[in-house]
This record gives sequence, C-alpha cells and structure tokens, in this order.
Amino acid sequence: KMREEKGGKIFIKDEDVVSKKIQNLIDGGVDSFQVISDFDRTLSRASYNGEKCTTCHGILESSIVFNEETQKDLAALKKRFYAIEIDPTMTIEEKCPYMVEWWETAHKIMIKSKVKRTSIQQAVTESNVILKDNCKEMFQILNQNSVPLLIFSAGIADVLMEVLYQKSSFLPNIKVVSNFMKFDENGVLVGFEGELIHVYNKNEGALTDSAYWYFEDIKHRHNICLLGDSMGDLHMADGVPDVNTCLKIGYLNEKVEHLLPRYIDAWDIVLVDDPTMDVANVLFAAIT
Ligand code: TMP
Repeated sequence: KMREEKGGKIFIKDEDVVSKKIQNLIDGGVDSFQVISDFDRTLSRASYNGEKCTTCHGILESSIVFNEETQKDLAALKKRFYAIEIDPTMTIEEKCPYMVEWWETAHKIMIKSKVKRTSIQQAVTESNVILKDNCKEMFQILNQNSVPLLIFSAGIADVLMEVLYQKSSFLPNIKVVSNFMKFDENGVLVGFEGELIHVYNKNEGALTDSAYWYFEDIKHRHNICLLGDSMGDLHMADGVPDVNTCLKIGYLNEKVEHLLPRYIDAWDIVLVDDPTMDVANVLFAAIT
C-alpha cells in the first residue's frame, strides 16, 4: 500500500525489519503511539514547480523584514553553510562547528536588524512556504486519535507556528520544540530562548524543561514514528525513555545520488523527492 501511494521512489533496506516494526506499531495500537517530526523539508515541501521552497529561516529573508543588504548577508551565509550541511564527504562531528557558526551569525543579524513580531505574519503570507500534500490530513488523523505529535525543528518556532496557523491549524496534540524568539515590550526581537538548536544537535540535549514534561506525560507511549530529512533528525527520539519500536522515515530531497546509500542504511524507509505525507498517512491509518 505504501509503494502504491509513493510510486517508484521508495527505498527499504530490510523489508523484514520494516514489516516487523509496522506490525509492532499496529499491535501496540494508538495508545502506545507517538510521532516525532522535523519541519523544514519534512512537513514542508522542498520544492514546487521546479522552484525551491523556503525554510522557516528563509521566510524572514524577505523585504518586509530585512533591508536588501541584510537579505544578501543571510543569503550568502546560507549559500556557504547549506553546502556544508548536506556535504556527503563530511561527518556530523566535522559539520557541527559550522552549523553553530551559521545559526549564531544568522540570529545575530536578525537581532541587529530589530525584527518585529508583527512582520512575521506578513512574511509567512508572502513567502513560498508550502506544507506537503495531505499534511493537514495527517495532523487531523493524529489529533482525532489523540496521538501526540512533536515537531522538533532547528528552524524558528514563531515562524513555524505561524505557518501552521496560516496553512493548516495548530491542533491540541502538537508540541513544538524549536528556537523561540524573545521580544521586548515593543515587540522587537532581542534574542532567542534557551539553547540554540541546529540541524545536528536535535537530540535529548536540546530539550527544554517543557519538553521534559511533555515526554513525562506521554511516557507510556513506547512506539514512535520518526520523520525527518536530515541525518541529524535520526536522533530526535534520543530523549524518549524505554522505546519499544521506532520506525524512521527519511525524506531525501538533495544530492540524491550521493546520499541515497547512506540514507538507505540509516533510515527504515527512504522517500526520494516526495511532496506528500501519503506514506506516513497510510501507516497512521493502519495504526489508528
Ligand atoms: P529543520 O530542523 O526544521 O530542518 O530546519 C533547519 C533548516 O533551516 C536547515 O536546513 C538550514 C535552514 N536554515 C536556513 O535556511 N537559513 C538560516 O539562516 C539558518 C540558520 C538555517
């Protein structure tokens, strides 16, 4: 059924392992189940009609928020560091210092530019961010069955949530762990809350107190479906105690030729250039 939904670009290293995991998730039922998902290029589309779609950070790189010079500076950072993020020849350890430098520099530029809380809404409206097809349906299936969905993102929480408000809805089963902006009394950006979350530190170390209580509340849910597009996303469930089954679905959108063998090795199911949430939805329909 998953293959039918996805067509040809679905890769599974070990079908027996995946079948067993899926059976475990179905047998465990809806009350043992939770979902942990990345946001950019996992719930949102990587491209549309051949044009790259923007990320949470990218949404702010618009004229409503930044002047031309600042936009250029942020675009230059992205050009340099995104190549490192997806470089198939570097290890995660080698990439980490560069990611910290990217996020810290970008956040400093945003603070210096005095981003206004009110401009986020308009920037999202005018951006080309698009949720994947049937993402809204996915949120609904999970919410109707009271399955908790943690969106764990190295993007910007305030932007991500605005995307959900505008393009879908922010349902009660959703929890966001991401970089939250801090504003002063005039609604001007003055910093970010807590520890910085970048693509390669999305693990238990990045979880805040509120995330700790989130996991405490759902500690009876030992079965997980993890959705991500980056090798760093594989660690998003590291903070969950006593995991029974964790099915990892990886969305591969870039440097497919180089990265595919590594993705097939690391993820249970790999979906290449999938603009939909259909495969996850088939699974969720079977569990709920
Ligand atoms: P994710 O954890 O939701 O995938 O979000 C992280 C993405 O954000 C990652 O692919 C890099 C991207 N990013 C930008 O596009 N611009 C920036 O300034 C920064 C710091 C990150």
